[in-house]
Amino acid sequence: MNILYISISGNTRAFVKNLQDYATAQHQHDQNHPEIHLKEISEASPETQENEDFFCFVPTYLEGGNGIDNGTEEIMTNAMREYIEYGDNASHCLGIVGSGNKNFNNQYCLTAKQYAAEFHAPFITDYELRGTKDDVARIYQILETQSIKN
Ligand SMILES: Cc1cc2nc3c(=O)[nH]c(=O)nc-3n(C[C@H](O)[C@H](O)[C@H](O)COP(=O)(O)O)c2cc1C
Repeated sequence: MNILYISISGNTRAFVKNLQDYATAQHQHDQNHPEIHLKEISEASPETQENEDFFCFVPTYLEGGNGIDNGTEEIMTNAMREYIEYGDNASHCLGIVGSGNKNFNNQYCLTAKQYAAEFHAPFITDYELRGTKDDVARIYQILETQSIKN
């Protein structure tokens, strides 16, 4: 199972690494459970064509506004948007997992929802900041189910 992610202050990176460790433990217990391969996207990443399906993990960074009628300008994470826009990459995207901070109210996880609409991929779920152990187990199970369906 492949995960592409972007992380500016490290929360998403920490979460997907926990998810990868969890997947490895699950796989060791029962090889039917998939391991996770991670790929970090940043402004320095060359845009390349993905040949395998992947899930995208994206935090939300928006400038100002309330997320309903304004303030939806994406900042910091644009490299991920451009990466998915490249070539046929969007067609390999099985879904988007969003993160953010609930203090942002209506803007909570909005970037993931915007990606889902733009790339015609499901918005899979969300978690806050670095997530919890429960989020790791919950999200692994959702990804596993989604990747079997595809
Ligand atoms: C300038 C700035 C703007 C942010 N805007 C939002 C927002 O609009 N909605 C949201 O849910 N979280 C927002 N956040 C919170 C981040 O999405 C959250 O801290 C996330 O865990 C960061 O992930 P990262 O450490 O992997 O970069 C914002 C954080 C900063 C610093």
